[in-house]
Amino acid sequence: MSDFLMTRTLDEHAAETALRHDVLTGLTRSPKVLPPKWFYDARGSELFEEITRLPEYYPTRAEREILLERALEIAAVSGARTLVELGSGSSEKTRHLIEAMPALDTYVPVDVSESALKGAAQTLLAAHPGLRVHALVADFTKPLRLPESPGPRLVVFLGGTIGNLLPPERAVFLADVRAMLSPGDALLMGTDLVKDEAVLVAAYDDAQGVTAEFNKNVLAVIDRELGADFHTADFAHVAVWNREHEWIEMRLRARSDLLVKIRALDLQVPFAAGEEILTEVSAKFRQAGVRRELAAAGLELTHWWTDAAGRFALSLSVADGIGTDGREGRADGTGLTVPAPDTAA
Ligand code: SAH
Ligand code: TRP
Repeated sequence: MSDFLMTRTLDEHAAETALRHDVLTGLTRSPKVLPPKWFYDARGSELFEEITRLPEYYPTRAEREILLERALEIAAVSGARTLVELGSGSSEKTRHLIEAMPALDTYVPVDVSESALKGAAQTLLAAHPGLRVHALVADFTKPLRLPESPGPRLVVFLGGTIGNLLPPERAVFLADVRAMLSPGDALLMGTDLVKDEAVLVAAYDDAQGVTAEFNKNVLAVIDRELGADFHTADFAHVAVWNREHEWIEMRLRARSDLLVKIRALDLQVPFAAGEEILTEVSAKFRQAGVRRELAAAGLELTHWWTDAAGRFALSLSVADGIGTDGREGRADGTGLTVPAPDTAA
C-alpha cells in the first residue's frame, strides 16, 4: 500500500537551458563561478552521501545527534501533519523526525536530484506504509507550488544547505519560505556554526579525496550535458576559510594554462595556470546572525538547539507574531526557549 507521487517542475529542457545560462554567465566573468546545484546529478548525490560518512565531515553527525535528542519535542511543538523538506537528498536524517510524528499524513521532499528523491521515497515508504509521499523535482531558490495536504506544516531545511546560498539569496529564500507558512506552521533549519578553521577546512578537504571528487563532478556534468572537454585531472580541489565572510569557499584551480571547449555554447574558455572557479560557499553561522536573518524575513526564532559539542544548530522559527498554536505570540517572548549565548569562537 504505497502512496507515492512525483511532480517535476523542472523538465529536462528547462534544466538544460538553465545550465547553459549559468555556465555561459559564470565562466565568461572574472572571477569564474558556477552555482552549486549542478553538483547533484545521480553521481553527485551518491558522492554527497559518501561525504556525510567521512570522519572529517562532522555536520551530518552533529545534526543527527540534535534530531535524535529533540525529535519528540519538535514533533510536539509543531504538531505537523505535513512535513515539507527542501533539499531533502536521501532524507536519511529526516527519518528520525518522521518516526517521532505518528500523526504525520504527508511528506513532501523537494530536490533537484530525481535519483535522490526516488531512493529516499523507496526507503521511507517501506518503513512507513501509511505515509503519503509527494516528491517535487524543483529548484528551491524559485517560488514553489506545494501540493494540497493537511496542516499544520513543518518546513525543514537541513544539512546547513542555507549556507550554500549567498546572503542576498538567503534573504529571498527565507522570505519565500515565510510566504509558505500559515498560522501554526513552522520552519526547522540546520546551520553549521563558526568554529576552529582547521576543523572547518578538513570537513571540506578530506584525506580520501571524496570532497575533491564531488567538487570536480560539476565539470563532468558540464562535459556530459553541454559537450565540453574539461578534464577533471587538470583541476585541483581547493577549500579555503574566508574569515571576513565566515564561509568556506570551494574552488577548482587550473593546474596549467588551458583552453576548454564547450560545444553546446560554441564557446572556448581560457584558463591561466592557477586561475580558479568558485563552485560553492558554505557559510558558518552564529546564533545572533541566524536570528537576524530570520527576523528580516518576518520569521521569529523560537527554539535553538545545538549538539553537545556546539558544532551545529537547529533552529525553529514561526511567522512573525504567530505562535505554532496559531495564536498571537507574546511580545515579551515568555514561554520561548531562551537560547544559550553563542558558543562559537
Ligand atoms: N538534506 C540532506 C542533503 C543536503 S545536500 C542532508 O542534510 O544530508 C544538499 C541537497 O540539496 C542535495 O540533495 C541537492 O540535490 C539539493 N539541492 C541543491 N541545490 C538545490 C536547489 N537549488 N533546489 C533544490 N534542491 C537543491
Ligand atoms: N550543504 C553541504 C555543506 O555546505 C554541501 C557540501 C558539503 C559541499 N561538502 C561539500 C558542497 C563539498 C561542495 C563541496 O556542508
